[in-house]
Amino acid sequence: MGNPLLRGPGADPTIIAHRGASADAPENTMPAFELAFRFTSWLETDVQPTADGVPVLLHDADLDRTTDGMGPVRELAYADLQALDAGSWFSPHFARTPVPTLRGLLDALPHDGHVLLEIKGPHTDAQLGAVLEVVERSGVDERVLLQSFEREALARLHALRPERPLGLLTGAWDDDPVAECRRYGAVLYNPDHRLLEGRDLQRLHAHGIASAPYTADAPADWSRLHALGADAIITDRPGALEDWLAERP
Ligand code: G3P
Ligand code: CA
Repeated sequence: MGNPLLRGPGADPTIIAHRGASADAPENTMPAFELAFRFTSWLETDVQPTADGVPVLLHDADLDRTTDGMGPVRELAYADLQALDAGSWFSPHFARTPVPTLRGLLDALPHDGHVLLEIKGPHTDAQLGAVLEVVERSGVDERVLLQSFEREALARLHALRPERPLGLLTGAWDDDPVAECRRYGAVLYNPDHRLLEGRDLQRLHAHGIASAPYTADAPADWSRLHALGADAIITDRPGALEDWLAERP
C-alpha cells in the first residue's frame, strides 16, 4: 500500500467515519460500521486485546460506558465479552449488539471498504502480533492502515514490518512532524483537528505524508480543514459531511 489518503488536486478530503457512523449508531459496532459504508469507503475504529488475546473493537479501556459489562476489557476473556450488549446504552433499537472482533469486521468488509485501525493503548509484541496476524490473514490487508498515539507501539510495529505504512496520531504538534513520521514509517500525520489551524501541510505532502485530523463534526470545522488542505476528515457524522461536501459551491 502506498498512501491512499493523499488528496489529489481539486479533490475533496476523504471522509473517515469515526468509530463508524457513531453519531447515529453505537460506536465501534457492526451497525455503526454498516451505516458508515453507506456514506464513505473509510472508517476508523479502535482495537484492544481481551484477556486471552483476541483483538476486539472498543474505544475505552473499560467496558462500563459502551456495554453492560464492567471493568477493563483486557481483564475479560473473549467468551465472556461475547455475551455483552454494546448497543443498549445508545438506544434500545440496538439491544444485544455485541462488541465486534477485528476479524469479524474484516470478514465483512465491503469490496471497497478501508479501515483506519487505531492500536488503542499499550500493546506487547504478542498483542501487536495478534493484530498483524488477523490483518495479514484477512485477504484485505492492503485496505487496513494501522495508526496509534502510542509511539512505542508504532516503533515496534515498524521494526516488525518495516514496509508497512503507518499513521501517527498526536494531541500536540511535533517540532518536526516529517522527522517523527519517518521514525515510524508513517504516511499519515493525524493531529487533533484544532492543531491544524495556521499549519502548512505542504512540507508533509512534499514527503508523501497525508494528514487526517480528528474529530470534526461541525460545518465550520469542515470548512476550515477543507481550506487548509486536510487530506481526510475523521468525523462522527459521515452522512452529514458527505451532504456538506456535495452542497459546497
Ligand atoms: O482516529 C483518531 C481518533 O479516533 C483519536 O481519538 O479518542 O477517538 O480514539 P479517539
Ligand atoms: Ca480512535
